[in-house]
Amino acid sequence: MSRFEAVIFDLDGVITDTAEYHYLAWKQLGTELGISFDREFNETLKGVDRMGSLERILELGGRQDDFTVEEKEAFATKKNEHYVSLIQDVSPADILPGIEQFLKDLRVAGYKIAMASASKNAFAVTNSLGLNDYFDHIVDAATVVKSKPDPEVFLKAAEAVGVRPDKCIGIEDAAAGVTAINDAGMYAIAIGADEGLSHANIVLRSTESLTIDVVRGI
Ligand code: BG6
Ligand code: MG
Repeated sequence: MSRFEAVIFDLDGVITDTAEYHYLAWKQLGTELGISFDREFNETLKGVDRMGSLERILELGGRQDDFTVEEKEAFATKKNEHYVSLIQDVSPADILPGIEQFLKDLRVAGYKIAMASASKNAFAVTNSLGLNDYFDHIVDAATVVKSKPDPEVFLKAAEAVGVRPDKCIGIEDAAAGVTAINDAGMYAIAIGADEGLSHANIVLRSTESLTIDVVRGI
């Protein structure tokens, strides 16, 4: 064991590539609303909850004041329907490289393992991946009041596994998520090539580099 006792994972874009499906589902809704956006703008949606993402897209199109709360809720539901249809076939084959071995090694080494995802689909996706048993706790996104970059979801995960934040490592693929980890007082590992991740303690290009040796070395 290193000085850390728990590892807290984001889901979308860290454990599996569902970040891509969120992007495609938002893009489809955007097309229906006449608002188009690219992958660069999508980086600002990563880690942000459903309603928060919708608000950002409406703002991009200058349409933030055009709809009632009920209409906005209907748009968010529609995006989720697109998303749910895209994740129907998610299976253990969709676990990103190295992740299952990393989870196994963390277990054997005695680390607590938790998930801090903004997604209300997190339980379903983790179940489809066959990974539920590795997690001591998965935060229910419906209980989180403040979306990433607020640290709330990471702090809830740490509390649930009974580990002080400064003894936790958080793993994220989103800039907002790295900010959340930092503000929770945890050690941040970012996954990806995006320049916006440089506020993490370390940045790894891919999950293949995420090994127990990295954790032992910090
Ligand atoms: C995060 C994703 O994990 O969950 C975001 O990075 C997504 O893109 C958010 O908007 C909320 O997901 P859901 O499944 O509750 O709409
Ligand atoms: Mg993510």
